[in-house]
Amino acid sequence: MYQLKINTNGVMSQLLIGESYRNMPAYLPENKQAIIVTDSHIRQYYHDVTDKYPVIEIGCGEQHKTIRTLERIYEALLGYNADRNSFVVAMGGGIVCDVAGFAASTYMRGIPFGFVSTTLLSQVDASIGGKNGINFGGYKNMIGTFSQPLFVICDTAMLATLPCAEFVSGLAEIVKVAAIRDAELFSYLERHVGEILNRDSDVLSHIIIESVKIKARVVEHDEREQGERRILNFGHTFGHAVEMLDGISHGAAVSVGMMIAARWSAEDCGLPAGSVEQIERLLERLGLPVATTLSAGDILQTALKDKKRENDVIRLVLLDNIGNAVVRPISVNEINDRLSRYL
Ligand SMILES: NC(=O)c1ccc[n+]([C@@H]2O[C@H](COP(=O)([O-])OP(=O)(O)OC[C@H]3O[C@@H](n4cnc5c(N)ncnc54)[C@H](O)[C@@H]3O)[C@@H](O)[C@H]2O)c1
Ligand SMILES: [Zn+2]
Repeated sequence: MYQLKINTNGVMSQLLIGESYRNMPAYLPENKQAIIVTDSHIRQYYHDVTDKYPVIEIGCGEQHKTIRTLERIYEALLGYNADRNSFVVAMGGGIVCDVAGFAASTYMRGIPFGFVSTTLLSQVDASIGGKNGINFGGYKNMIGTFSQPLFVICDTAMLATLPCAEFVSGLAEIVKVAAIRDAELFSYLERHVGEILNRDSDVLSHIIIESVKIKARVVEHDEREQGERRILNFGHTFGHAVEMLDGISHGAAVSVGMMIAARWSAEDCGLPAGSVEQIERLLERLGLPVATTLSAGDILQTALKDKKRENDVIRLVLLDNIGNAVVRPISVNEINDRLSRYL
């Protein structure tokens, strides 16, 4: 097992990679009553643990990341007489963790919570950094808080039951952190594509640990995304738009978004053409898309609705080399002129 402590504004969160979900009870604070929030898929596979606790089950999928689900969680917490002596364990992927984390951090002005993170995407991304929330008014993650879980258990063995498309979606976030911060990890990924796709446990553990370390370090320096944390949006400005328009998985859309950003970087930041090809080749070998048939106009219009826009400028995360990200403010007019070249 690999342990990492993450300290954001004096709040400690413990990340446990390679720990078994069956050991979750050992991390519960003394004298706290645990209540598990999960979804039906996960409960079906991992009921050996969920059966031992009161359970709140939510629906599967992004369409359940709503205020209605939140309301149902509050109602169930009340039904279980949850109070400040209660502890919420979110056992699931990014959706369960985001919604349950938000419910716990607002119920009675906040009760403590922890995560057993069950998807590759949530292990390397969603469960680290303290962002939680729900979708609202057609916008993703519109309502939420910054609030850190006491612990995050990333049991790599749980990834064995993950559907292939979900697994591949998570790989995109690993390529992302390698591209923005860690050329060595990028090259490791290139050398181990076969083992990764076979879900070799040693290789998976290595890439999850390295990715978590990168995200944890970035978030520790900038929990509230005033500066450095922005680099984690690499591939996401246009990726989110592609996700909304095309309905493909988050990781697949981010993969397309990373390729747009990489091609842009070659023109603006001197990212060598060979590096653009390397990124494209790696994503393709991992089973991720590298282009879209959507129009530049549609992508831009959708991206402009993104809450991260500041006036008429979008901060694009670009690369000057594999392993080094730079943030460039680009005007909407310029994006309009250039975007179609990079699709
Ligand atoms: N908070 C953050 O910083 C952050 C970062 C990135 C993404 N997110 C959010 O994460 C969400 C996506 O998360 P996700 O990709 O984990 O999706 P998800 O939670 O919907 O899980 C994907 C699917 O896999 C199933 N599943 C989960 N674990 C399983 C397992 N071990 N075995 C079998 N089936 C399993 C789930 O039931 C679901 O059907 C999005 O809503 C996104 O906004 C949040
Ligand atoms: Zn993402």
